[in-house]
Amino acid sequence: MQKKLGFGIIGCGIIADFHANAIHELSAEAELVGVCDVVFDAAEKFAHRHRTSAFKNEAELLASKEIDIVCICTPSGYHHSSVVAAALAGKHIICEKPLAINKEQLDKVESVCKNSGVTVSVISQNRYAKSIRRVKSAIDQGLLGRIVCADIYMKYYRSQEYYDSGSWRGTKRIDGGGALMNQGIHGVDLLLYLAGEIKSVYALSKTLVRNIEVEDTLSAVVEYASGATGVIQATTSVYPGYPRRLDINGENGSIVLDETSIVRWDIQNGGGHDDVVLMPSFTNGAATPTAISNDGHIQQISDTIRCIREGIEPLSSLADGRRAVDVILAIYKSAEEGRRIDL
Ligand SMILES: NC(=O)c1ccc[n+]([C@@H]2O[C@H](COP(=O)([O-])OP(=O)(O)OC[C@H]3O[C@@H](n4cnc5c(N)ncnc54)[C@H](O)[C@@H]3O)[C@@H](O)[C@H]2O)c1
Repeated sequence: MQKKLGFGIIGCGIIADFHANAIHELSAEAELVGVCDVVFDAAEKFAHRHRTSAFKNEAELLASKEIDIVCICTPSGYHHSSVVAAALAGKHIICEKPLAINKEQLDKVESVCKNSGVTVSVISQNRYAKSIRRVKSAIDQGLLGRIVCADIYMKYYRSQEYYDSGSWRGTKRIDGGGALMNQGIHGVDLLLYLAGEIKSVYALSKTLVRNIEVEDTLSAVVEYASGATGVIQATTSVYPGYPRRLDINGENGSIVLDETSIVRWDIQNGGGHDDVVLMPSFTNGAATPTAISNDGHIQQISDTIRCIREGIEPLSSLADGRRAVDVILAIYKSAEEGRRIDL
């Protein structure tokens, strides 16, 4: 029986509960050693709820010899500093998305993590869904033939109260962007996973409804390295909010997903799909941020433990985390400058 890996959580807000619950779920191989938060009272309350300890601050948590892995659950613009500190302390890292919010932060995180040799996994929990893995294997087997279009249409609803609920939400400096950087990044990462590298982007970005510094609505046209084309739409300003749709269309077949539920699987000549179950999306964050299922975090954390033990790259790696943000930054640049941006 292998030793349990000790976990620490930095930042004790909404998403930290998903990490703590996942760690408890994986209690045969993982143990929550302790947590910290810039607001010590928040750390203490969280620690009490999850039957663990509250460290005074990040430095004290990172100095704990019992902690092997840290989950970074702070607001997006602070991820980079905790990732760097954790890597320098020799801790493996599970960082919430986005990995970082600008190029300087990404470069720093990348160089420190590569030199430190720790394993880094950036949360993109949808990648770990069984349905997404099934779609990926269908594409890799060539069942769809040449991919022609790969699109996401994310029509979400976030109220003004949501944005007002945290001083960092909807700010350029800490959220790093709006509908695309915060919510749309999940879809962007899935497009990169399923359809491959993005070569160029052309975008239009607006703040139409919410009182925030960043976009609440964005549309982009993209070209993949394969030559395929795509549309990325992300809004958080439409009522009532629908599950994110992801379309992959090839010359020989098409697959459509609502969030991670496969709703269409239309492949010429059958296409070996006896195991594919078509079903609507039950839990999703289209209208309520906390309505996401905990399964994705459980699967990603479990798989990351396996990768650490086996010394292999996680399915959602540091490079994957960076790639998604690089695409988003290129989309923002395109919208700002009104021209196509090549990546
Ligand atoms: N994977 C997903 O589906 C998903 C869903 C929601 C949020 N997130 C991500 O999780 C992150 C946190 O979001 P949230 O909604 O939980 O935010 P939140 O505001 O609810 O919680 C953030 C917590 O971090 C603390 N904090 C701030 N700066 C800190 C620092 N330097 N060190 C330690 N603690 C610090 C705050 O006091 C707060 O308790 C964001 O980056 C967000 O993008 C991911």
